[in-house]
Amino acid sequence: MIEVKNIEKVYQRGSERVYALKDISFIARKGDFISITGPSGSGKTTLLHLIGCLDKPSKGFIKIDGIEIEKMKEPDLLTVRRQKIGFVFQHFYLIPGLSVLENVMLPLIFARKKRDLDEIISIIDKVGLKKRIYHTPNQLSGGEMQRVAIARALINNPEVLLADEPTGNLDTENSENIFELLNSLNLGGLTVIIVTHNPELAGRTKRIIKLKDGKME
Ligand SMILES: Nc1ncnc2c1ncn2[C@@H]1O[C@H](COP(=O)(O)OP(=O)(O)O)[C@@H](O)[C@H]1O
Ligand SMILES: [Mg+2]
Repeated sequence: MIEVKNIEKVYQRGSERVYALKDISFIARKGDFISITGPSGSGKTTLLHLIGCLDKPSKGFIKIDGIEIEKMKEPDLLTVRRQKIGFVFQHFYLIPGLSVLENVMLPLIFARKKRDLDEIISIIDKVGLKKRIYHTPNQLSGGEMQRVAIARALINNPEVLLADEPTGNLDTENSENIFELLNSLNLGGLTVIIVTHNPELAGRTKRIIKLKDGKME
C-alpha cells in the first residue's frame, strides 16, 4: 500500500521557486489501477517520481508498506525502488545493441539477483514477445518496444508498476494493446499507476487523479 499525505514539491529554478505539487493526498491499495491526468506541467511526472522513490517531497510524507520513504537513507531507498517498484517511461529506454532477453534481464544485474531463464522467458511471454527474444530493439515496433520495457519493469517482481505516459509515443492501436496489457497485469493483482493524457484510457482505470497547477482537482 502507498500512502501519500499532504505532499508538496518545490523546485528551485535560479531565484524562482516552482511549486510543482501542492497538498496532494491519496492512498493506493494493493490491486488498484489509478491514472494521473492533467495538462502539461501540472506535476504528473513529479508525483510519479515521488511515488517511485526517485525523488523526495519538500513537505508531507509518502509511506510504502508503512515505511516513510523521506526518512530512508539512499541505500535502503534503492532497495525499495528495486524490490517494490517497476518503472515504465514514454521513451522506452532500451539498450540498442542488446536483445529483448538481455534488455529484460538488465535490472537483475543491477540488483545482483538471479532468475531462471524459464522464469525470464515466461515474463517475456506474458507481454506477448516470446517469439522475439533474440531480436534487438531496432527490429521491433514501438508497441513491441514498450512491451519489452514493461517486461523489464516486471523482472524484479515489483508490487507496483508506475508508467509515465506509456502510450504517449504510440499510435491508437498500439496504445490500446499496451493499455490492455497493463489492464491484464492489474487483473492479475499488480498495482498499476499510469500517467496519461488520454481521457478515454484514464476513464477505463479504477480511479483518476486529476492534477491542475500541482493541485488535485
Ligand atoms: N527538475 C526540475 N527543476 C525545476 N522545475 C521542474 C523540474 N521538474 C519539473 N519542474 C517543473 O515542475 C512543474 C511540473 O512538472 P512535471 O511534473 O514534469 O509536469 P507534467 O509531467 O505534468 O508535465 C513544471 O512547472 C516544471 O517546469
Ligand atoms: Mg510529465
